Amino acid sequence: MIRYECLHIYNITSMGTVSYIKNFLKDPRVASVTPTSRFTVEKVCKRIDFSNDIRILEYGPGDGVFTRVLLDKMTPKSKIIAIETNSGFVEELESMGSDRLIVKNTSVEQVDEIVKAEKWGEVDYIISGIPFSFLEETKRHDILDKSAHLLKDEGIFLAYQTSAHLKPFLKQHFKSVRTTMEYRNIPPMCIYVAK
Ligand SMILES: C[S@@+](CC[C@H](N)C(=O)[O-])C[C@H]1O[C@@H](n2cnc3c(N)ncnc32)[C@H](O)[C@@H]1O
Repeated sequence: MIRYECLHIYNITSMGTVSYIKNFLKDPRVASVTPTSRFTVEKVCKRIDFSNDIRILEYGPGDGVFTRVLLDKMTPKSKIIAIETNSGFVEELESMGSDRLIVKNTSVEQVDEIVKAEKWGEVDYIISGIPFSFLEETKRHDILDKSAHLLKDEGIFLAYQTSAHLKPFLKQHFKSVRTTMEYRNIPPMCIYVAK
């Protein structure tokens, strides 16, 4: 029982992990065999002001471990565009059936075109879980450059990665970059807050 509780608080139980392992075996870009822990999700979401109507871009939502919390906390007029390459996860996201959630089955490299097609202006927050370390440096810069341009002046880019490798890249696109660790995650997670 105690062991089950430990696994549960780290989000390593049942369908979430089964889904990640299944998708990871077919698609290395999934980059994880278990969803992000609820501690990391909470820490990232603390940076978001949910009292306003907001627009969020979510990069690499996976099975929606962040998306569900965002939908729960957001106002009825707030919206998310979730961009996910893995079609298995896309099916799970679409099954949430929320009219505040737009799911796109493509790479975040297309983010500027997606935002334009949806007639969104600038966005309030970008939350990113994609494995930047798997991408060539030019692609990392391209995504970060597009992201910085899509954010409002007071907007925030929030990224979570299993290492601190992203900071020098972020510093080239954002004025302020802070990092914090969440150790209650397997493996421990580095959270980046870029403005
Ligand atoms: C480490 S998992 C994080 C999943 C989930 N957000 C979580 O916190 O558990 C990375 C996710 O990014 C997706 N992904 C990887 N590269 C991507 C890309 N270029 N564009 C969109 N999604 C991508 C993967 O399919 C996977 O769902």
